[in-house]
Amino acid sequence: MKQFIELNINGEAHEIAVEPGDTLLRALRERAGLTGTKRGCDSGGCGCCTVLVDGKAVYSCMTFALSVRGKSITSVEGLAVGGVLDPIQEAFIKAGAVQCGYCTCGIMMAAKQLLAENSKPSEHEIRHAIAGNLCRCTGYQKIIQAIQLAAAAG
Ligand code: FES
Ligand code: FES
Repeated sequence: MKQFIELNINGEAHEIAVEPGDTLLRALRERAGLTGTKRGCDSGGCGCCTVLVDGKAVYSCMTFALSVRGKSITSVEGLAVGGVLDPIQEAFIKAGAVQCGYCTCGIMMAAKQLLAENSKPSEHEIRHAIAGNLCRCTGYQKIIQAIQLAAAAG
């Protein structure tokens, strides 16, 4: 049976109807219409569904929507503010860190948490922060460069 839950998504209050077994990924994509967050493996193995819950990166495919009621969710749609791209988005463009783009939203969310907590991360710290996010296209080097660029810009 559906239940209504309140979520703050990207700074806006939402009341959405979810089934008890709905994941946060499903709630975002199918109930709130925010399809920037991608569904890959749907089993905690790829990271492309990563969003922030109260500032912490989580796999939305492994998070029940009911478990985050009342919390603040940031999805990739929340990175740009007022049409101005986040420095992380700018840096991904500048570094050419996007190929097919399927992993990109999740990696940018992991980077967002990293840079919020550590404005000058080492390469090792960047690699550690995105260790749960698979990219099958780029070989990671440009992604790491993009996060370094974003850190330098921040
Ligand atoms: S879709 Fe969530 S970890 Fe792969
Ligand atoms: S850019 Fe294609 S999976 Fe990362």
